[in-house]
Amino acid sequence: MYYNWKEATNTEELKVICNLIRNGEIVIFPTETVYGIGANALDANAVGKIFIAKGRPSDNPLIVHLADKGKLGEIVEEPNEVEQKLIDAFMPGPFTLILKRKPIIPDIVTAGLDTVAIRIPNNVIARGIITYSGVPIAAPSANVSGKPSGTNIEDIRKELEGKVSAIVDGGETEIGLESTVVKVNEQGIPVILRPGKVTPEDIERLIGKVIIDNNVLQKVDEKEVVESPGMKYKHYSPEAKCKLICCQDDLDEIFYIKKYIKEYQGNVVVIGFEEHKEKLFLEDERFIAICNKGDLEKYAKNIYSALRQADKVNPKMIIIEGVKKQGIGYAIMNRLLRTCEYDIIEK
Ligand code: TXA
Ligand code: MG
Repeated sequence: MYYNWKEATNTEELKVICNLIRNGEIVIFPTETVYGIGANALDANAVGKIFIAKGRPSDNPLIVHLADKGKLGEIVEEPNEVEQKLIDAFMPGPFTLILKRKPIIPDIVTAGLDTVAIRIPNNVIARGIITYSGVPIAAPSANVSGKPSGTNIEDIRKELEGKVSAIVDGGETEIGLESTVVKVNEQGIPVILRPGKVTPEDIERLIGKVIIDNNVLQKVDEKEVVESPGMKYKHYSPEAKCKLICCQDDLDEIFYIKKYIKEYQGNVVVIGFEEHKEKLFLEDERFIAICNKGDLEKYAKNIYSALRQADKVNPKMIIIEGVKKQGIGYAIMNRLLRTCEYDIIEK
């Protein structure tokens, strides 16, 4: 069933959705980062349906979503001082913390790890569904495994409809990139396993120290042992091959884009900055203006949808203009490097 809550949450329908969750069904709903596919986190059977719907490898654990901090004690051990500071500062919000789990969380959620990822979303619809279901909700991003996350229902409806019991449409998600995932190491230093809207700078300001896991901006072998299993899988990828162009100088940037347009005889789509459109002489469908250069928030919000839109033209190559690895730009580049399978021109 499809429910349109773009304007407001419908309380009668909310009851229906929460009943589905309590009865072990899976539901697509918005959060402020990206859409999620949610199930009762305490019901191993229900969680199993998420893995099937997404085609997700079973060794990649899920994030458990709570409505408020008061519920933390039911599923995780007491946070230490640094963890508590992070919780106080960034929850609710686009932030996920890995904590020691209690046995109540089924193994399927954590892929057998002794930790569990916790997030308290800030989105009204997400909070309503979690609160009134009365159970913690396990939810990965709503997309078939390997594809870009869904930031609006139109983008993911075809690939997921029929695999879930309900779809709640809350319009475009606000942020557009998945939450920042952090684990505090044995030395009490927060380690960023996946960057997001909560930036390394934000965490450093709060705790005084931050480490960015080595695998955030580099390629990971599928056989490698990593802190966060999600790091090693193909991710955020459209059907077409992608190339990332990231030059300090605009002239170089345009030069390389033109070079690849020529190499692929025009059978490309460029995802680029508004200002560069007129320099490239492409037909409208072959240039997707993502934002004005420097508008990183808008870039983050639009990138997944742009990747899906580019695929519709069926190009040989999607050429993407990258951004500076600053603020949320760090998260954008982390995703795009995977999208492009590390095929990047940097100058
Ligand atoms: O913004 C978000 O985080 C969205 C919304 C729906 O909340 N969710 C999301 O979930 O992006 P997912 O499943 O696509 O990504 C979860 C990431 C994966 O990379 C996974 O490997 C990692 O979190 N993760 C989950 N549990 C973990 C754990 N116990 N230790 C380390 N990494 C973990
Ligand atoms: Mg995901």
